[in-house]
Amino acid sequence: MLRPILSLIAFAAIFSSGVSAQSAPPWSVPDPDTLPDDAFGRTVRLGRDLIVKTSSMIGPDAPDPARRYAGNGLDCQSCHLQAGTQRFGLPLAGIWGLFPLYIARENEVRTLEERINGCMERSMNGAPLPVAGPEMKAMLSYIRFISAPEQVGQSLDGRGAPAVPLPDKAADPAHGHQVFTDTCAFCHGADGQGQRLDPAEAKEAGRRYRFPPLWGPDSFNDGAGMARAITAAQFVHANMPYGTTFETPALSVADAFDVVAYIGGQPRPHKPGLDADFPDRSRKPVDAAYPPYIGPFTPDQHRLGPWQPIQFWMKTNGALARTAD
Ligand code: HEC
Ligand code: HEC
Repeated sequence: MLRPILSLIAFAAIFSSGVSAQSAPPWSVPDPDTLPDDAFGRTVRLGRDLIVKTSSMIGPDAPDPARRYAGNGLDCQSCHLQAGTQRFGLPLAGIWGLFPLYIARENEVRTLEERINGCMERSMNGAPLPVAGPEMKAMLSYIRFISAPEQVGQSLDGRGAPAVPLPDKAADPAHGHQVFTDTCAFCHGADGQGQRLDPAEAKEAGRRYRFPPLWGPDSFNDGAGMARAITAAQFVHANMPYGTTFETPALSVADAFDVVAYIGGQPRPHKPGLDADFPDRSRKPVDAAYPPYIGPFTPDQHRLGPWQPIQFWMKTNGALARTAD
């Protein structure tokens, strides 16, 4: 019973004082508001707004129908916490110097623009942004600005979400339902559909949700990184309930996997063509729970674990998997 109370306190602290009120991150991220009112400053701030207010600027609530690229009610910030500035909250800060980068999903080197569009088509269940358009330029300018110069070209401490040890048994969605009811439903709703802002609040905030939906038509699709159990468990363990940080996780690792298994069993939009992902099958993540499956494992084992036997099989049969199809 302590946990809901703690998260309530975290919730109140964060929402009463705005975006930068998160307990001071142990890395410092430059603040776009310190930039002058010139072309670069305005572009960087536009980029930040696009990350925070995606749904109203380039999503379903954009006034101009031609600019409704994102297909759901999420914002980039729904997952890239604190406008992408939070350490281990899937930060965008610091990643500027990492791209172009080999990406297994397409088995090729991808630019930052292409990586952003990967999230547009999957996490945002929408269409890619024009690569040379004003929105893309603004997002790139923002990411460059919040990436401190000393981070460029360095492997980045605080990137993504921290690895967690994989449980040696399958996750338990029924227990995950209990965890969901006890620790998540308070904000995300018992039906997982989040809490929509009323029209006046939404207009003011530029966002559709106070708390985003975890499944259903307005959430990420089944091709998104967050739809994979290990990726989602790492994110949830380090960052949820909201206000949690990687330094003081609120859930046990087992509970994080169980709650993610429950969420993973709920309906969400489908991305056609997923069978073309990870054309080098030996690099397909073991928790990618869509065909073609590699090795003699059931779809449920890819979805729920245990994943070590799959990892072991991949290690010994990887060369076979690469060419088999
Ligand atoms: C539903 C959650 C979610 C949303 C919403 C989302 N992303 Fe992501 N994003 C992820 C995850 C998870 C990863 C890591 C992917 C992986 O491990 O495969 C990621 C990775 C990225 C990366 C690469 C980061 C790195 O460290 O290499 C960029 C850039 C990015 N996202 C940009 C965006 C932008 C811009 C938006 C909004 C248009 C957005 N994302 C919306 C979940 C999300
Ligand atoms: C105190 C409220 C609160 C609680 C409790 C909470 N969350 Fe969240 N969650 C948020 C907010 C707020 C965001 C989005 C952050 C933003 O938009 O700035 C979020 C984002 C997410 C996301 C990524 C976005 C999406 O729509 O999928 C996932 C996944 C998630 N939460 C899972 C959970 C799980 C699992 C639990 C329970 C263990 C949980 N949350 C508990 C408030 C909460």
